[in-house]
Amino acid sequence: MIKDVFINDVGPRDGLQNQAKILTPQQRLQLIELLTDAGLDGVEVGAFVSPKAVPAMAGTDEICQQLATTSCHYSTLIPNMKGFELAEQNKLKLASLVIATSNTMNEKNIHMNNAQTMNMIKDVIHVSKTTEVEVQVYLATAWACPFEGVIAPQQVIDMAGSLLELGASRLVIADTIGAGDPLRVNTLINQLVKHFGSDVFSCHFHDTRAMGLANLYAALEAGIRRFDASIAGLGGCPFAPGASGNVATEDVVMMCEQMGYKTGIDMLALLDASDLAVELTQTARGGNAKTWLRKQYPKSN
Ligand code: COA
Ligand code: ZN
Repeated sequence: MIKDVFINDVGPRDGLQNQAKILTPQQRLQLIELLTDAGLDGVEVGAFVSPKAVPAMAGTDEICQQLATTSCHYSTLIPNMKGFELAEQNKLKLASLVIATSNTMNEKNIHMNNAQTMNMIKDVIHVSKTTEVEVQVYLATAWACPFEGVIAPQQVIDMAGSLLELGASRLVIADTIGAGDPLRVNTLINQLVKHFGSDVFSCHFHDTRAMGLANLYAALEAGIRRFDASIAGLGGCPFAPGASGNVATEDVVMMCEQMGYKTGIDMLALLDASDLAVELTQTARGGNAKTWLRKQYPKSN
């Protein structure tokens, strides 16, 4: 099938890392399997981070070892070289580094300032070139930082240029705290696309101020065809105050398909994954259109 829009579900990582209830690796794997069955292009299956920093991501190795062989692009978040080594040992093909736009956010998140983070990224990408693991980089807090406020587009453009020069396979422009709006999203993404083309970018929107889907549309209009979304709208960062759920995968798929974009995702199977995410976490409520969607795609049993 020709896909027009590629969706990576970050629910099992971004979604679950911030939940009060910690799921077992087997429960997380069950959710990943339903997402894979639904035809997601990618699933972020966990994070190789310190279990003291993010207890909910412990056991990511156990999950990786049990992943089914499919065409789904599985990835994990990594904060440093140790994370990269663990991703490689666990035979992941894609690992995601993170750099935020401000010193404060990077220090809170991974205990490094911007310059130290850039150096670490340089080293990890250099090592990755001798392995089979691709490294992409999340450019977090791209519109605003919870500590340092609004971020100027030029800063993101400069950082994107440096990261691409270091050899990042793709950049994910992330609105970590959901502070962007469609106008600012369109402005920044248009400039990034003008400088570097659209293929190297993906976008990641949180729905804190209910503009997640509008922001995603603004990026789509600017030429982006790869997006993160999170099943049932799960999401949030323990180190970024105000980061609430991501834009829900079921809402993104619905919007794209209704506008004529092919996602390759089976909505009925996706809604089963959404139900499981709600059941397991007991906090996710499902996407905004869940009630309507369930009427169009009733449960088969
Ligand atoms: N995976 C697992 N353990 C790791 C690790 C990794 N990638 N990197 C470091 N550690 C372990 C070290 O081995 C050490 O363990 P020990 O206490 O048993 O000796 C401990 O963590 C501290 O290591 P150190 O290098 O001093 O790191 P730190 O205390 O400055 O913490 C991070 C830095 C990056 C490891 C930690 O802040 C982290 O994992 N952050 C996660 C950020 C995140 O997931 N944010 C949300 C998404 S953006
Ligand atoms: Zn996020």
